[in-house]
Amino acid sequence: METLDTINKRKSIRGYESKDIEKEKLDTLLDVANKAPNAGPFQLTVIQNKDLLNRINVATKDFMLNSGNEFFESRAKIPGYEPMYGAPCMIIFSAPEEGFGQVNCACSATTMILEATDLDLGSCYVVSPVIALGANPELAKKLNLPEGFTPVCGVLLGYANGEGFPSTGREEVDNINYI
Ligand SMILES: Cc1cc2nc3c(=O)[nH]c(=O)nc-3n(C[C@H](O)[C@H](O)[C@H](O)COP(=O)(O)O)c2cc1C
Repeated sequence: METLDTINKRKSIRGYESKDIEKEKLDTLLDVANKAPNAGPFQLTVIQNKDLLNRINVATKDFMLNSGNEFFESRAKIPGYEPMYGAPCMIIFSAPEEGFGQVNCACSATTMILEATDLDLGSCYVVSPVIALGANPELAKKLNLPEGFTPVCGVLLGYANGEGFPSTGREEVDNINYI
């Protein structure tokens, strides 16, 4: 696929088949994640364990419902809403808090979701499960992260089931200026 086609095709997928991703595709995604622009250490944690994915999903929904944040609460109250959308795989991007950890993780995750699109996989860049992990140290311990690393963002991966929550679409933005 041409790069521009991939960029135009990518959108957040919010409904997945339970089918696992082929190992070859997962390996490619992990490989490209380490080819993104980078300025420091970060860790990629692959979660395919259904029980752990489910526990993170439950913790995320619980956090959203009790967040006091109108957007999170209204979303979590939609009938059938599950914040992990049934994805069979989530990659957690973690980094040390000092330095450029957040940027390194975002660069890597963005590169990964573009390649996922190219491989005909659905993906969704997520932060809500990471916030929920931050509030659940016992669950976060399961990630077995290197000392001093904190989860920054996640990428849900899998085959789209075509019935997910639709992307809201993008508003026209006026955010370019020429000097
Ligand atoms: C920092 C960040 C956090 C996000 N967190 C979530 C999330 O927790 N759950 C979710 O479903 N989508 C999340 N998204 C995806 C955005 O909602 C999505 O990218 C945006 O609505 C544009 O839609 P598109 O990706 O389909 O083009 C997040 C995106 C970013 C950049």
